[in-house]
Amino acid sequence: MFADLKPQISRILNNQKFAINARLKQVCDLLKENIPHYDWDGFYFKNDDKEELKLGPYTGNPTDHSIIPFGKGICGQVALSNQNFVVPDVQAQDNYIACSITVKSEIVIPLFLNGKNIGQIDIDSNTPDPFTEADERFLEFVNQKVAQIL
Ligand code: SME
Repeated sequence: MFADLKPQISRILNNQKFAINARLKQVCDLLKENIPHYDWDGFYFKNDDKEELKLGPYTGNPTDHSIIPFGKGICGQVALSNQNFVVPDVQAQDNYIACSITVKSEIVIPLFLNGKNIGQIDIDSNTPDPFTEADERFLEFVNQKVAQIL
């Protein structure tokens, strides 16, 4: 599944007929359509020079959390840690921002540009404990490809 999606992601991101945010939205749509355990997926980026994340393109239900301060929730923690964060059970997390009661698990992978953590891809799943190292490697690939067009 991931192997088939990689060339499609490269093709979408390299298509200069679309603005960058339109390409990121197409990537979000592709992931949600093709990966059964991805129920909400989106990008957050550092909001200028502020210590906060701002919601970018996403696919799934609208979220109230368009701004997330560094340190808050899974996303805000990844902004500071620079590490992948895989959450098999969101209810077991103290520092978690709920977007929807249907969400059971989450994965957040930082996005680096020139070695700096400038954002992240965030996936919510309605399935408990669905993420493996294959998801991590795949989402790292997505972020590397995104960084190449920023
Ligand atoms: N659950 C995230 C907030 C973002 S939503 O999932 C879209 C968090 O704890 O940071």
